[in-house]
Amino acid sequence: MNRLKSYHLRLQQTMENRKWILPLAIFSTLSPLVLSLTTLTSPFSLLPSSLSSSSSSSSSFLESNLHPLPTSLLPAAPPRLAYLISGSAGDGQMLKRTLLALYHPNNRYVVHLDAESRPEERLDLENFVKNHTVFVKFSNVAMIKKANLVTYRGPTMVSNTLHAAAVLLRAGGEWDWFVNLSAKDYPLVTQDDLLHTFSYLPRDLNFIHHTGHLGWKENMRAKPIIVDSGLYMAKNAGILTTSQQRSVPTAFKLFTGSAWMALSRPFIDFCIWGWDNLPRTVLMYYANFISSPEGYFHTVVCNAEEFRNTTVNSDLHFESWDNPPKQHPQYLIVKHMAKMVASNAPCARKFHMDDPVLDKIDSELLFRGQDMVVPGGWCMGSRENGTDPCSVVGDTSFIRPTAGAKRLEMLINSLLSSDKFRPRQCK
Ligand SMILES: *[C@@H]1O[C@H](CO)[C@@H](O)[C@H](O)[C@H]1NC(C)=O
Ligand SMILES: *[C@@H]1O[C@H](CO)[C@@H](O)[C@H](O)[C@H]1NC(C)=O
Ligand SMILES: *[C@@H]1O[C@H](CO)[C@@H](O)[C@H](O)[C@H]1NC(C)=O
Ligand SMILES: *[C@@H]1O[C@H](CO)[C@@H](O)[C@H](O)[C@H]1NC(C)=O
Repeated sequence: MNRLKSYHLRLQQTMENRKWILPLAIFSTLSPLVLSLTTLTSPFSLLPSSLSSSSSSSSSFLESNLHPLPTSLLPAAPPRLAYLISGSAGDGQMLKRTLLALYHPNNRYVVHLDAESRPEERLDLENFVKNHTVFVKFSNVAMIKKANLVTYRGPTMVSNTLHAAAVLLRAGGEWDWFVNLSAKDYPLVTQDDLLHTFSYLPRDLNFIHHTGHLGWKENMRAKPIIVDSGLYMAKNAGILTTSQQRSVPTAFKLFTGSAWMALSRPFIDFCIWGWDNLPRTVLMYYANFISSPEGYFHTVVCNAEEFRNTTVNSDLHFESWDNPPKQHPQYLIVKHMAKMVASNAPCARKFHMDDPVLDKIDSELLFRGQDMVVPGGWCMGSRENGTDPCSVVGDTSFIRPTAGAKRLEMLINSLLSSDKFRPRQCK
């Protein structure tokens, strides 16, 4: 215990030297948790160079012995997130708002309106991205201009997500997690809250809700063979089902779960580069699978020995379902506000454009003014007379967490607790 204490002291001293961490008290409970985490890292060394030192040293740690981690394991800088925000016809306005609510200069963003949307709507989004002073200043928002044809439940959705991940890797790849969102999602914490809390986590964790118990999906999903017309038709005609059925795979085990996730940089490298054939063969297999976005990454991560131990069984989203559940979750409105906050989730879905609950989230959780980016430690301007505080840019590595960081910390603590973390991995 003494050893732990002295480690904490050291940890605190290190932190005090880092101006980007403000309220130390917030992390009174998360730091011991990080301490007790096992080695999560894969043997790969394709991490960005800034992170590779921490990843290689972490591989010598075991869950059972609570050795203090070497200080080099502490994040050298706050993490960076890479977001895909995508939408379809009519989602353009909502997508802009979600983008502003998720913005941080150190993150990267790819926005995509699929080929169902009108060219004018796409042009409007393109102009918005091109003309926004802050986006231009940091040039970290990109739009996929050659819109993809996307079938909601088909493999074209997965290929669209992989496309965005590839764009984000090519744009420098200086990020730690890839987060897949839709225009109808909305954050419940500021980016500073998220970056602050995530700076204490091993960067190879993959937040992905999954199970290997397929239940009714074995007959309804795994056995039917479908063809996604979005793969080869100029106009989307949806999914065709063949009369033949196939058997459940024996070469790998199927997993299924939520289509929303936050995936680590090493895992995205694994999926995109394809030096191991698993991500490629599983992708080809899922080309004929209904609702492939609910299974592709889940099956890859759980069948790859070097990644299954990095899974955290959660999609980090708040959703509200009918009883019995319908195909889609309910649209969230003001009456859901208290439950949303109590869930401690960093994100929620789904919302109608300009629903009053979004204004409530903006003012009470994000402190965001209308049409402004979500404020953070990097915003130095005044708020007087409705001025955008982020019109004056300060140090972008300066993180100023709010109460949302505390909520998120509680969620992460619970997800990584000994009764939830290991026992729920790829089962
Ligand atoms: C963005 O800038 C271009 C060129 O300066 C202009 O034509 C366009 O109208 C602007 N769009 C918006 C939405 O302000
Ligand atoms: C990614 O996000 C979209 C939201 O636009 C979702 O519908 C899709 O299924 C997600 N997942 C994958 C694996 O593509
Ligand atoms: C994953 O965890 C299991 C059980 O704790 C362990 O036996 C295995 O060696 C771990 N795999 C890797 C790649 O760390
Ligand atoms: C805010 O408005 C008041 C009154 O109109 C003015 O005196 C003040 O200078 C303004 N402040 C800023 C920062 O613009």
